[in-house]
Amino acid sequence: MICSQMTAKILRFLFLASTTIGLVNSHSESGEWSCESGDSVVQLFANFRPGIITLDGHADDWEDIDGFEFSLRPALDPHDDDAYGAKMTAKALHDGKDVFFLLQVDGEYTFSKGDNSKCPSVALMFQIGENATYHNMGGCKESPNACTSKSCQGYEVDIMHFSIGNAIPGRLYGGNPIDIGNGSDRFGHLVDVYAWNPHCRYLDGLGPSGNDTIAQNDWKGAWWHSSLTTHSGFVEENSPYASNGQKGTYYFEFSRPLRTMDRLQQDVQFKIGDLSKFSAAFWYPVNGNPWHGSGHYTVSCDWLLLNFNSGSSNSTITKAAAPRSTWDAAVAFSLLLSVVAFCLSVFVGLRVSQNKSVPFTPINNL
Ligand SMILES: *[C@@H]1O[C@H](CO)[C@@H](O)[C@H](O)[C@H]1NC(C)=O
Ligand SMILES: *[C@@H]1O[C@H](CO)[C@@H](O)[C@H](O)[C@H]1NC(C)=O
Ligand SMILES: *[C@@H]1O[C@H](CO)[C@@H](O)[C@H](O)[C@H]1NC(C)=O
Ligand SMILES: *[C@@H]1O[C@H](CO)[C@@H](O)[C@H](O)[C@H]1NC(C)=O
Repeated sequence: MICSQMTAKILRFLFLASTTIGLVNSHSESGEWSCESGDSVVQLFANFRPGIITLDGHADDWEDIDGFEFSLRPALDPHDDDAYGAKMTAKALHDGKDVFFLLQVDGEYTFSKGDNSKCPSVALMFQIGENATYHNMGGCKESPNACTSKSCQGYEVDIMHFSIGNAIPGRLYGGNPIDIGNGSDRFGHLVDVYAWNPHCRYLDGLGPSGNDTIAQNDWKGAWWHSSLTTHSGFVEENSPYASNGQKGTYYFEFSRPLRTMDRLQQDVQFKIGDLSKFSAAFWYPVNGNPWHGSGHYTVSCDWLLLNFNSGSSNSTITKAAAPRSTWDAAVAFSLLLSVVAFCLSVFVGLRVSQNKSVPFTPINNL
């Protein structure tokens, strides 16, 4: 019967589509990456709002700032089905000297002292070189032992990564007076990194062709979770600070000077009135399983725009880039549903004309 043939054809297409998508995504370096960015991409505004943010991990001072909510899809396989169970809200502003970011995301409290991969973690990534792509962290084609600041010139991205396993909630981490000479942070692991691709990633100041001893970590940040009770100040002995498993919201707050002393294309430089390209990532120990480096969620499958506005108003909007492959599968799936519905109606019509009593036919028997 024609109906069953059509249904089988569409099912086969769906199966093929899902297997090709699977193949493409299991190799993050495949050239067949597709991301539907369309003509309108999210613009997050960093407006001029001096003197309102305290970098303490608490979000109450951000209440009047507009943000944007992003779905968190797996970075290497950006499908809605596998998205993290909550959205991430991102907010930004500047005070003329520093830029501030807030990332907030719902998640049960989970903290395992000293074990970063059993705690949530976040990263921000920015385009430095004009040819640096979101996909593959800059996208320089050189192999790990051939990446140099020369061979990958134009493909630099700037990364801030905060892993909280050793960071006390509400305390400040990142650049400190002891870790001068590179982008590390021996206390809380809030590090300043640059990359040309996922295999060529270095702490600021370090690199394949030599180290620069005046490099530093220019980021600062703090974290908090809504299940923590406000306190005059936690110390390490209070770990895990709250009981694990409580529902609530994680807050991650960051700042960095708009300009840094970098001379090696290892830091993005922000300019008031300009647009920068950025993205954000989130790691979470889903069901208590430790995360691994590439098992992160991201807010988009391409760069988003960050607008350093000289004024104090203007907010976000427009849509986030979505992976094209999901769309194709969705179209095929709705086509399948409409064919099934059509066949069902023909089938029911046939039964009605043959038999006065129409038996109930559950759809999963078809
Ligand atoms: C970026 O790519 C374009 C086109 O391939 C090239 O003309 C340009 O020089 C590149 N820029 C840098 C900084 O490498
Ligand atoms: C980074 O700098 C600190 C302080 O100078 C030093 O102790 C540490 O070993 C450096 N890290 C690396 C990976 O070189
Ligand atoms: C740069 O620093 C790294 C880590 O500290 C070290 O392993 C490497 O030998 C240094 N490179 C040079 C050229 O000094
Ligand atoms: C702010 O919004 C107004 C109205 O939507 C628009 O005309 C203006 O260009 C925006 N300003 C910036 C800096 O984008």
